[in-house]
Amino acid sequence: MNDNKTIDEFNRKIKRIIISEEEIAAAIKKAGKQISDSYDGRPILLVSILKGAFVFMADLCRAITVPCEIAFMCAKSYYKGTTSSGIVKITMDLEQDVSQYHVIIVEDIIDTGRTLNDIVKLLKARNPLSLKVITLLDKPERRLVEFDADITLFTIPDYFVIGYGLDCGEYYRNLPYIAEYNENGD
Ligand code: IMP
Ligand code: MG
Repeated sequence: MNDNKTIDEFNRKIKRIIISEEEIAAAIKKAGKQISDSYDGRPILLVSILKGAFVFMADLCRAITVPCEIAFMCAKSYYKGTTSSGIVKITMDLEQDVSQYHVIIVEDIIDTGRTLNDIVKLLKARNPLSLKVITLLDKPERRLVEFDADITLFTIPDYFVIGYGLDCGEYYRNLPYIAEYNENGD
């Protein structure tokens, strides 16, 4: 989206905060401890799915207190407005040989489940030492493909959400909290 947005238009679309900065920080601290305790001494590769998970990755890796490496993959699920078209494309792949690592996929949100289902299949075929998935948010009501994360920080109803890395038309990733998007806020 390249059209100019006024600050008023921008703010009108933020309906209400559903998860605050403090709640996110507390949940990440707990998840970081859980990962540090269970993976201590093993080669860990945190794989973040861009773009949505970049903020979560930045905070989660700093909540992990044992050595770990980080990597990024870019997967695009094509959206028309707020509805998924069901097409997942890997536009940037990993450089690492995952067979040397315990891989933890770091995702922003599981919606239909298609993106992670595809990425997990792809990475499992490369024989990682182990493979787990951590997601910041889960919207189980919208699942089209059966998929469960190993660690879920927050389960939410079927709202379209923005902030903390999640976008609508590429905007709102910079909000420090998770908010419900106001589709009728024009
Ligand atoms: P899935 O393949 O349908 O599970 O979709 C996963 C991807 O869709 C996520 O990584 C997000 O980028 C995007 N997505 C799903 N729900 C939302 C939402 O409520 N707000 C913003 N992006 C979303
Ligand atoms: Mg995404």
